[in-house]
Amino acid sequence: MVTNLKGRDFISVMDFSKEELETILEVARDLKLRNAIGESQEHILAGKNLGMLFASPSTRTRLSFSSGICQLGGNGQTYSPEELQLSHKESWKDTAEMISRFLDGFAIRLYNLKVQMGAETYEYGDARKVLRGLAEFSKVPIINMLDDKEHPCQIMGDILTMVEKFGGMESVKRKKVVMSWAYDERAKSAGVPQTMIAAGCALGMNITLAYPPENGLYDVDQEYVDYAKKAAAASGGSLSIENDIWKAAKGADVIYAKSWARDPDRHASAGPNYKKDWCISHKHFEKANEGAVYMHCMPARRKFEVTDALIDDPKISIVNDEAENRIHVQKAIMALTMR
Ligand code: CP
Repeated sequence: MVTNLKGRDFISVMDFSKEELETILEVARDLKLRNAIGESQEHILAGKNLGMLFASPSTRTRLSFSSGICQLGGNGQTYSPEELQLSHKESWKDTAEMISRFLDGFAIRLYNLKVQMGAETYEYGDARKVLRGLAEFSKVPIINMLDDKEHPCQIMGDILTMVEKFGGMESVKRKKVVMSWAYDERAKSAGVPQTMIAAGCALGMNITLAYPPENGLYDVDQEYVDYAKKAAAASGGSLSIENDIWKAAKGADVIYAKSWARDPDRHASAGPNYKKDWCISHKHFEKANEGAVYMHCMPARRKFEVTDALIDDPKISIVNDEAENRIHVQKAIMALTMR
């Protein structure tokens, strides 16, 4: 087991080995259980400061990081870009220098720089470049709270949830996990499915990535598909791609569905054609295995991505347990990297 992650950035799951991802999951589970019996964890990061920059709205991430650092004995500071001199075009390099002088860790949510930061132009991947640049100049860990390519804290919490629901990682490896597209009007990034196939395959899971066959509109980045296939070959997992949600749902143990699209304009015209089949409902679970669960990173667009009846079905939907695990897995990431 690799346990020394002190000082490491948590930007991409692809920066971490299978053993390191397993360590994060095991520490998260340990912290969760110790929290359940009321054991104080305030000594773990006593006196440490976490800065959190939210360049876009958040409920789960903001609440879970804020409470998580507090439970570990540290302090959390949250800001929007408008509250920092970034809004007056101070460079990320100079900002990174200040991060290192005053903080012990810096978490950032940044994806569309044009909308969020007033950048004149924006290309997919620019937010990732900012995170990598911050990491280069910062002497304290940079934690990705969602950029344009990945949502690593989300997926680690999701995998922890599957481990709990199915009784351990070895059991999860025997399950069919469907990471599915679902319809919403807004064209969001493919960060969640990209992180899921990369981390899941590295950990030995069998993942079916399902999305409509719309001339590449819903493809995820080839970089992630290539990484996932290579990681699966090493771990004993697998990645398959399916363009028919009904075939994907057959024999599924998990259907985790959310919307994404590469091009908002093309999605505006093509997306609605898929709403009927790809709004996840009990009909999909009739094809799934007994005991199958519904997952979503939240917020979900009810009546578009999922029916009310399904997301509110306590026998199938585990979205709130999934959300709760954000705090446990993020505490593990902070405890391991910021100590
Ligand atoms: N899943 C997630 O990141 O939720 P928030 O956008 O509410 O933080």
